[in-house]
Amino acid sequence: MSQQAIVDFRSDFLARPTPAMVEAMVKAAVEPSGFGLREDKHQAALEARAAELLGKEDALFVPTCGMANQIAIHLFTGHGRAILCEERSHIITSEGGAPAALSGATLRTLPGRRGAMDLAALEQAALTPVAESFPKTGMIVIENTHVRYGGTILPEAHCAAVADIARRAKLPVHLDGARIFNAAIASGRPATDFTRHAVTVAASLNKGLCAPIGAVLAGPKELIEEAVRVRQMFGGGFRPVGTIAAAALVALNTMIARLAEDHARAKRLADGLANQPGLSLDPAEVETNLVVPTLTQMTPEAFCERLAKEGILAMPFGPKVVRFAIHNDIDDQAIERAIAAVARVLRKAAA
Ligand SMILES: Cc1ncc(COP(=O)(O)O)c(C=O)c1O
Repeated sequence: MSQQAIVDFRSDFLARPTPAMVEAMVKAAVEPSGFGLREDKHQAALEARAAELLGKEDALFVPTCGMANQIAIHLFTGHGRAILCEERSHIITSEGGAPAALSGATLRTLPGRRGAMDLAALEQAALTPVAESFPKTGMIVIENTHVRYGGTILPEAHCAAVADIARRAKLPVHLDGARIFNAAIASGRPATDFTRHAVTVAASLNKGLCAPIGAVLAGPKELIEEAVRVRQMFGGGFRPVGTIAAAALVALNTMIARLAEDHARAKRLADGLANQPGLSLDPAEVETNLVVPTLTQMTPEAFCERLAKEGILAMPFGPKVVRFAIHNDIDDQAIERAIAAVARVLRKAAA
């Protein structure tokens, strides 16, 4: 095992808060926090800034992005209502069956390409009058960037086309934008170019933006007022919240443009991995901060175990896929170490 520090690529939520965030937390920790569910001044400042950046009337600070998604689902669906979404969406693969468990909603999944739902299939599902035996549709969910395809960006034109179908079908669109700022920075556009095509938006603060914890749900004022009640019902009315809200505000104010550095490093990692035997990856498909090579000779579990012995942690991400998430604690040197370590692991496995 290398004597060098371990580099953890398993998730971008592992990025530590910056010194400016720690300073903001220390200051806020000794101030009195608000008593009510939205009384804290740091929370209010964070929510106002999030609403502004996401182009919505209001935003609510919530513990996790999964909870933000589930609050939106609860607001728009109900027992027996269907959600139209792409078949590998996070709300299906990674939220513990919450749409059914918490809202009684059923998922009607649609095929897609690299996370973008097939528009003809969506149009048919949303607009064809359904037989009485079919569930009524409550909402459409899109995910941008799309985690299962390795942080792919749903282009703005695709989001607009989804919104157009939704408008004609009189359905709301919820955007799971856990990494929406990655999509924005990588596209060279403001986040609002994407968020304007959805009624509600969930965005993570604790991933590439390095806040210690939290996400926001943004949307129209009246819906967010209702979201406060649902957040409480789901056990998410966390208080005192000033300390972490203060850090999350620093995250929103200082860490968005920096995501470009993660994207550049993800590309460098992809270039360094692409031609290694035993692994298949097209660097042109790496659009943001996630790199998800397919292994052709080893299982992801065996690969990650051997890589861990080299001081590099990656995550099994499917039967043949592993995930490397680039974040603020991963520098150029760490990328080069990872490339060399992967080469050693694959070489040994092939020997
Ligand atoms: C696309 C997407 N949505 C939602 C989430 C959930 O975030 P959290 O872990 O804060 O619940 C994640 C987490 O990685 C994600 O990738």
